[in-house]
Amino acid sequence: MTLLEAFGGPEMVDRVIDRFGEYVEGDPAMRAIYPEDMAPGQRKVKLFFEQWMGGGPVYSNLYGHPRLRRRHFPFVIDDLAVGRWLRYMRQAMADEGVSSEVQAVIFEAFAPLARHMHNAGEDIPRDPLCDAVLQ
Ligand code: HEM
Repeated sequence: MTLLEAFGGPEMVDRVIDRFGEYVEGDPAMRAIYPEDMAPGQRKVKLFFEQWMGGGPVYSNLYGHPRLRRRHFPFVIDDLAVGRWLRYMRQAMADEGVSSEVQAVIFEAFAPLARHMHNAGEDIPRDPLCDAVLQ
């Protein structure tokens, strides 16, 4: 059984990321970090999650290697944002009924990954990474 199956499949990923988006929409500090139209980014996050949890490589076939830290450079991510991202993702999974065992596995990986995304105050390029598949 893949983690994706234990999670509840792509339908559950859809519901959790939509719910996460509602938390972001309701938090002005977080909402300010995201672009005006959140829909394209939300679709990419869904595809990435499905791939990360053992679904097919649809994300990478479309966008190449995730290069997650680099893809977040255009968005200034500080300690508050790291904490809230984790909190809202946890709440979204709990709201939608992802089991606590599956949540434990996911957050063991997501907690360090979210901290790794911190980039506030760093001298890094802030231009977006091109979406083209990297050959
Ligand atoms: C730590 C706090 C984080 C913040 C504030 C944050 C914020 C953002 C923002 C603003 C975007 C751009 C959305 C758009 O273009 O519409 C984004 C994209 C994305 N985020 Fe995060 N993120 C965080 C952590 C993470 C983590 C830990 C993961 C993975 C587990 C992740 C996965 C993604 C993915 C896959 C994308 C789409 C990247 C692309 O293909 O362009 N993010 N995030």
